Amino acid sequence: MTQPVPATPSTTSEPTRRGFLYRAFTATIAGIVGIFPAISGLLFFLDPLRRSNALGGFIKVGQLDAVPDDGSPVRFTVVVHRLEDAWTTYLNVPVGAVYVRKDAAKKVIAFNVTCPHLGCAVDYMPGRNEYLCPCHDSAFKVDGTRMNQTPPRDMDTLDVDAEKLKIGEVWVRYQDFRTGEEHKVAKT
Ligand code: FES
Repeated sequence: MTQPVPATPSTTSEPTRRGFLYRAFTATIAGIVGIFPAISGLLFFLDPLRRSNALGGFIKVGQLDAVPDDGSPVRFTVVVHRLEDAWTTYLNVPVGAVYVRKDAAKKVIAFNVTCPHLGCAVDYMPGRNEYLCPCHDSAFKVDGTRMNQTPPRDMDTLDVDAEKLKIGEVWVRYQDFRTGEEHKVAKT
């Protein structure tokens, strides 16, 4: 005659609890490990300097008190922190230069130094109060108006942030434009 086998006490609750804790632990570690690339990637795309460069945002180029009141221009180099990728940032990378001057009404005007003819950098000649391009002799008045027919247009003006001027800083919307064309068209 077959004897009934006594039921053994259940042992499933302890392994189940351990399994849950293990999965929670590994999920936490995976989350921590995975969040750093995610944050880096997010910063890469949200970084204001990157956006300044890529999308034409304003960039600080210098102090307003460095710009003379007599209308002569001062040249500022434009530097940015360039994010190469999510892990690599290059600090203070020169990307261009601008001339900044005050007109007769003391309005602050900024020009890209790039010659609209074929892209050389123009030089300001204080003795003549003009800009000259050393490559093919384009010449411009101090207000950026072309003085001969070599360049296809006047020097390219850049937007200046009026709010930053109130606190003594010069910020410009730095952009490069296509050369050799009659109209000012931003490079993309
Ligand atoms: S690039 Fe300036 S004159 Fe040609």
